[in-house]
Amino acid sequence: MRYPMDGLPQRVTIYEVGPRDGLQNEPVTVPVEVKAEFIDRLADAGHRVIEATSFVHPKWVPQLADAEELLTRLDRKPGVRYPVLVPNERGLDRALEHGVAEIAVFASATETFAAKNLNRGLESQFEMFEPVVARALDSGVRVRAYVSMCFGDPWEGPTPISQVVTVGRRLLALGCYELSLGDTIGVGTPGHVAALIDAFGGPERLAVHFHDTYGQALGNTLAALRAGVTVVDASTGGIGGCPYAESATGNLATEDLVWMLQGLGIETGLDLDKLVTTSTWLAGRLGRPSPSRVVQALSKG
Ligand code: HMG
Ligand code: MG
Repeated sequence: MRYPMDGLPQRVTIYEVGPRDGLQNEPVTVPVEVKAEFIDRLADAGHRVIEATSFVHPKWVPQLADAEELLTRLDRKPGVRYPVLVPNERGLDRALEHGVAEIAVFASATETFAAKNLNRGLESQFEMFEPVVARALDSGVRVRAYVSMCFGDPWEGPTPISQVVTVGRRLLALGCYELSLGDTIGVGTPGHVAALIDAFGGPERLAVHFHDTYGQALGNTLAALRAGVTVVDASTGGIGGCPYAESATGNLATEDLVWMLQGLGIETGLDLDKLVTTSTWLAGRLGRPSPSRVVQALSKG
């Protein structure tokens, strides 16, 4: 049954981050052929944008150290975008050598997380990103940007909204086509989401990226949709986290999001059954059940 609500978009783009945000945080490194199959299955389920991997330092995130090999193996489907995470010029060189057409840079809204995740300060992180964005755009590569710790930070507490807006606007001013607001540790609540989007002056060029640590990810997504956001990051199977923020647990599960959007009559282009089958398959490879509630409910039949 479809029960639409007023004031919501008719269509939502789900920006799938499972192969990157999900697999970067697994205790075991998933074999490259499993990663390639995971991405293929996601495309087959209808995903049109799949964040494939990261060109970060392999010692910082060993789970994604096979980024080059993965891209070589990737069977790129027409109409599907495969962005990768890139922190610096070294990462950009590696990505360009492998024919990447879209990258994402990732900034922190707080000083402490900038140091822990990027080995930089709140200001000096921009010295790292600016040449990356400029060179990528010159090469015809689209650039997305993330801001992490938009709602709170494990070391600094609640993040001032003005601080998030300052960092986010600087990234957009560099020429990033979209800014994804990251609740890295999942502490945000729906009113906070609405206030943050409002502080940006509305939803234009904004996406949202919720981790589900406190069970708020779906509620926060609904608040973002009501504020006019139409791009939502999610991870098939609800895997995910950040190795440099221990309190970051799984991302909003794509299946849980699709269930809600289907009920609201909002188009996503995704096949829920295929996503559930993919999550169940992946859970077998990871040796643990999917944290997605929809996967658990549908797997029981
Ligand atoms: P650094 O140690 O300051 O690097 O790390 P450096 O610039 O001083 O370089 C040191 C050496 O590393 C040099 O080699 C570089 O060439 C090499 P040497 O000359 O000594 O032989 N190097 C690299 N090698 C390969 N690829 C590279 C690279 N860069 C430098 N890209 C750095 C700085 C940014 C590299 C490091 O801090 C890093 O890799 N951080 C990434 C951490 C990460 O991936 N975190 C998870 C993703 S973010 C996230 O999950 C949040 C998000 O989901 C949104 C949300 O939830 O909020 C996006
Ligand atoms: Mg994340």
